[in-house]
Amino acid sequence: MSVTPGNPKNAPGVPDVLTEALELGPDTLSPRDFYLLLTALVVPRPIGWISTISAAGVRNVAPYSYFNLMGSEPFYCAFGSTGEKDSVKNIREVPQFVANIVTMDLLEKMSFTSGDWPRDQDEFEWAGLTAVPSKTVKPYRVGEAKAHLECEVKHIFQDGRTHIVIAKIEHVHVSPSVWKNGRVDPKLLDPVGRLSGSLYAPLGDIFSVARPDMSKVGDTPSLDGMPKATRR
Ligand SMILES: Cc1cc2nc3c(=O)[nH]c(=O)nc-3n(C[C@H](O)[C@H](O)[C@H](O)COP(=O)(O)O)c2cc1C
Repeated sequence: MSVTPGNPKNAPGVPDVLTEALELGPDTLSPRDFYLLLTALVVPRPIGWISTISAAGVRNVAPYSYFNLMGSEPFYCAFGSTGEKDSVKNIREVPQFVANIVTMDLLEKMSFTSGDWPRDQDEFEWAGLTAVPSKTVKPYRVGEAKAHLECEVKHIFQDGRTHIVIAKIEHVHVSPSVWKNGRVDPKLLDPVGRLSGSLYAPLGDIFSVARPDMSKVGDTPSLDGMPKATRR
């Protein structure tokens, strides 16, 4: 189907009903509509609730769902900011952050911290959050969160208004409340997944699928050796 090229002020949107597959690139829709499309497709997204501190010592905390682990040898994570927001400004001054893990009990407070509070104001105070000193970095962690990743920023990649903050994970804190049988129990953690816009989702049913055992897969293309999914 054809979509009229958009502009940010007068987005043409997309049709209510599709009669054939959408084929489009970033320039086909307004930036806002393309953002809505992508963030409805890549779901659920984890949320890094990023706490930072300015050189003047003002504490900041804000949610970023352009967030994930990025590497394991050594361990990296990253988040993306559209525009140089206060979190990125702080990181340019003090290149560290804590990625606080967002759980369902913190959903509303997390969302509240996405407000555009003035940079000279303590966002922990605004949201009634407990600022707890971190072990290895200057930014405080959110005391109410059940797990935290303390990170040293290694690079800020910038292309236009996209800023991707890439950081090495230096220390992890995990509350006993989410620990069971020697590991983090996903049900006890009860993490928030971000969907598009103001929509969120808790964990649904959990399944297990083994990785393929290549010694059992054989030489000819076939799904015979494909492990089955089981509900946990
Ligand atoms: C759940 C959620 C996820 C968000 N994810 C992002 C994101 O990945 N990138 C971004 O630029 N803004 C994101 N935002 C918006 C920022 O949180 C918002 O602009 C905030 O004011 C930034 O705070 P700061 O200026 O203190 O860094 C998100 C908002 C919410 C509620």
